[in-house]
Amino acid sequence: MTVINAPTASGHGQTVCVTGAGGFIASWLVKLLLEKGYTVKGTVRNPDDPKNAHLKALEGAKERLILCKADLLDYDSLRAAIDGCQGVFHTASPVTDDPEEMVEPAVRGTKYVINAAADAGTVRRVVFTSSIGAVTMDPKRGPDVVVDESCWSDLEFCKNTKNWYCYGKAVAEQAVWEMAKETGVDVVVVNPVLVMGPLLQGAVNASIKHVMKYLDGSAKTYTNAVQAYVDVRDVALAHLLVYEAPGAAGRYLCAEAVLHREDLVRILADLFPGYPVPTRCSDEVNPRKQPYRFSNQRLKDLGLQFIPVTQSLYETVKSLQEKGHLPIIS
Ligand SMILES: NC(=O)c1ccc[n+]([C@@H]2O[C@H](COP(=O)([O-])OP(=O)(O)OC[C@H]3O[C@@H](n4cnc5c(N)ncnc54)[C@H](OP(=O)(O)O)[C@@H]3O)[C@@H](O)[C@H]2O)c1
Repeated sequence: MTVINAPTASGHGQTVCVTGAGGFIASWLVKLLLEKGYTVKGTVRNPDDPKNAHLKALEGAKERLILCKADLLDYDSLRAAIDGCQGVFHTASPVTDDPEEMVEPAVRGTKYVINAAADAGTVRRVVFTSSIGAVTMDPKRGPDVVVDESCWSDLEFCKNTKNWYCYGKAVAEQAVWEMAKETGVDVVVVNPVLVMGPLLQGAVNASIKHVMKYLDGSAKTYTNAVQAYVDVRDVALAHLLVYEAPGAAGRYLCAEAVLHREDLVRILADLFPGYPVPTRCSDEVNPRKQPYRFSNQRLKDLGLQFIPVTQSLYETVKSLQEKGHLPIIS
């Protein structure tokens, strides 16, 4: 199996669209695509917003990055961005538990992207960034089940527990599969778990806040909960691998490790002992939640070697320090 470490120029002569290009994951994807020689049409809501400056500074951006103004609720803007593209990476999505802000743009925007890809007539494949939120939210899953691409979140459970982000991502992914059938567009889906790692963009996004809150003093305790983690560079590479592999199809669970919060804070405290990392669990009554088993074999089979969670956490914190989001404590 070939392992892709050093970039090669497989993208020469190809133009691809990345929606939500300025986001945490998309920025790394744009960087990788430029390194591979692709011409990238990246959609942002405002190309002149200084928050997108990091994209313009990427190597190859001057020659091969075109920033297009587009909103998920504006079909024409998405259609214009996708025009002339051989591939589309649809990563843009609200990341919030506010039902009004989340569901409509995530679902309608996704339908627009698939329709625009079909209408363009040049698109070979659409890669959709779904989420673990569309996979694991199922109270009926037994403790011994290995979580993989066959698992789907229960929409009623998401609604009843007000997990509107998971609900929106699951409904959007369902729409993707329905639209793929209807339009004949070739779609492949990546389902990342909680993503961390170094930031290219200036602002701290939602998943990085999950780590930062244990270092900046805002979390006084940790919860009795488990979470799966993956590095952002592996998520970007997963998108590229499933785009380029001719035989790629279906869903790809993108996960490196599942940790209990106690393990997460212990790793952080060991790596960076100067920060006020919480030492107490907020739930001292219930038994400790057990990590679920999962399979990332499909991406491994495409050649992905996952960055270990401890290294990813270390580089997340170093990046937060470098960008001035955390004080440097020796
Ligand atoms: N980070 C994670 O842990 C994680 C895990 C699993 C899946 N995902 C998925 O990965 C994708 C990227 O997430 P991320 O972590 O990189 O988040 P992020 O940094 O918040 O990026 C989200 C991007 O979507 C754009 N966007 C949101 N609403 C939009 C709208 N109505 N029209 C146009 N663009 C819109 C944002 O643009 P603005 O900057 O203009 O707001 C931003 O560029 C999302 O689909 C998310 O669901 C993320």
